Amino acid sequence: MELKIPNHIAIIMDGNGRWAKSKGLPRTLGHREGAKTLRKILTHASQRGVKFLTVYAFSTENWKREKTEVDALMFLFKSYIKNERKNLMKNKVKFIVSGRVEGVSEGLLKEIKDLEKVTENNEGIVLNIAFNYGGRAEIVDAINKIIKEDKEEITEESFSKYLYNDIPDPELVIRTSGEFRVSNFLLWQIAYSEFYITNLYWPDFNEEALDEAIDSYNKRERRFGGIK
Ligand code: FPP
Repeated sequence: MELKIPNHIAIIMDGNGRWAKSKGLPRTLGHREGAKTLRKILTHASQRGVKFLTVYAFSTENWKREKTEVDALMFLFKSYIKNERKNLMKNKVKFIVSGRVEGVSEGLLKEIKDLEKVTENNEGIVLNIAFNYGGRAEIVDAINKIIKEDKEEITEESFSKYLYNDIPDPELVIRTSGEFRVSNFLLWQIAYSEFYITNLYWPDFNEEALDEAIDSYNKRERRFGGIK
């Protein structure tokens, strides 16, 4: 039987801190290594024919972490945007961000908007970075947009258009580091997604691990509430 490739894969990149700790390194180095993994996985996902890759890089709850760690994550995102620009253009990646972007610093917001603009016509894989993102916040923000427009009736389809980005729902959600939690990620979009949990820490996740997740997805029987 032909292998089904998920159109959209969403990843909770968990375990950077534990990866660093297991090696006696500061947590921030775990995040830095995690950014390298993202680079690898984006390339591989695109080569496998995935059309959308969403990754959870900073949640609305992550502000509670120590300032040094928050600063490091902000810095890392800024560096990623600067350093990856050429590579993303070369590989025709369309870069988008989902989240309360107005909540980040002016400098970072400008970098985000710039990269979204220069990559907007790219026709390769869409890289959606969930940053300052919360699933509940996204639903509340959508409702507030609807209220402002004085809409009287809404359907599931029309509601989706008010989310941060109007992209298809993920067929597959991957979480690393063995945790069985959703952690406020894409609450609306994952209604029928398949879940794949691996014990690998995110910095150890690699091309082979992504292939395993896709293989596992292929063994699932998706019924969407119906009977087969
Ligand atoms: C969860 O691991 C990971 C994060 C909160 C940050 C994810 C960020 C990256 C992978 C860096 C790449 C990001 C960008 C923006 C390019 P954790 O710190 O909660 O790990 P732990 O549960 O082991 O402590």
